[in-house]
Amino acid sequence: MSNKTALVTGASDGIGLEFCKILAAKGYDIILVARRKAKLNEVAKSLSKQHKNISCTVISSDLSKQQAAQKLFAATVAKDLQVDLLINNAGLLQNGFFTDLDLTTQENMIAVNISALTSLTHLFANDMGSRAGGHILNVASLAAWAPIPNQNVYAATKAYVLSFSQALHNELKAAGNGVSVTALCPGYTATKMMDNPDQGAKLSVPDGLLQPAQEVAEQGIAACLAGKPTLVTGFANRVSATMTHLFSRMTLANIAGSYYRKNLN
Ligand SMILES: NC(=O)c1ccc[n+]([C@@H]2O[C@H](COP(=O)([O-])OP(=O)(O)OC[C@H]3O[C@@H](n4cnc5c(N)ncnc54)[C@H](OP(=O)(O)O)[C@@H]3O)[C@@H](O)[C@H]2O)c1
Repeated sequence: MSNKTALVTGASDGIGLEFCKILAAKGYDIILVARRKAKLNEVAKSLSKQHKNISCTVISSDLSKQQAAQKLFAATVAKDLQVDLLINNAGLLQNGFFTDLDLTTQENMIAVNISALTSLTHLFANDMGSRAGGHILNVASLAAWAPIPNQNVYAATKAYVLSFSQALHNELKAAGNGVSVTALCPGYTATKMMDNPDQGAKLSVPDGLLQPAQEVAEQGIAACLAGKPTLVTGFANRVSATMTHLFSRMTLANIAGSYYRKNLN
């Protein structure tokens, strides 16, 4: 029997890299997508060396570009690859005062976090639905659960991912075509995203609040393969997400605003 195939965006680093390691160990063939081709080739080489029974395909793509999702889908068709599991993980973060942040960078963030994710979900959900079904894991964030001043566009993109994925989960389940969609909401996770100088101001997060990327990826894949609609990773994050229901949106914005203004530098 041939292996199942997973496509992971943002496979060159952080949580995406951990998704790839876990899926390779489970015997999935993997399509690795990100901008840095050399880094993806390194990851592919290392995974293929460790797991002789799988194959890795590298596709370099800048998902902030127009039609990137359509070109990526076409590249998988041209290579005769059928995707059973899609992980929309690639994402960008910008911290800082909205009007001071570069507009193009914020537009790119919306393009990657929202547009590419939506288009890839559309293209692959159709393809999976016309075959035996499949799974889609969309990476949102704990930031999806509240308006966050000084991280406002990022949090809004993640609120979109959460709402879009939960509604689509219900829609596809009612259609009964065997495709499931899961929204994954990690809290602060120990990846380069937390320190990336390209993300604007740096948010100081105590080490104790950072979840390991491997743990986040493991929990995300388990929830996705179980066909769950949503997973907030980690007990403390689940408590935080639940508590957002107790406050008005403006109270949440006030709480988040004072925390972020104090801890961004
Ligand atoms: N870290 C956290 O605290 C945290 C918390 C909640 C949610 N998340 C979400 O988790 C996901 C992964 O984040 P991470 O922490 O693992 O970040 P990361 O370590 O910075 O990795 C981001 C990945 O996305 C890729 N990427 C960035 N821009 C891209 C573009 N324009 N086109 C294609 N690929 C692109 C990067 O690869 P290249 O540079 O090679 O393109 C990299 O592989 C994101 O959606 C993020 O919002 C993270």
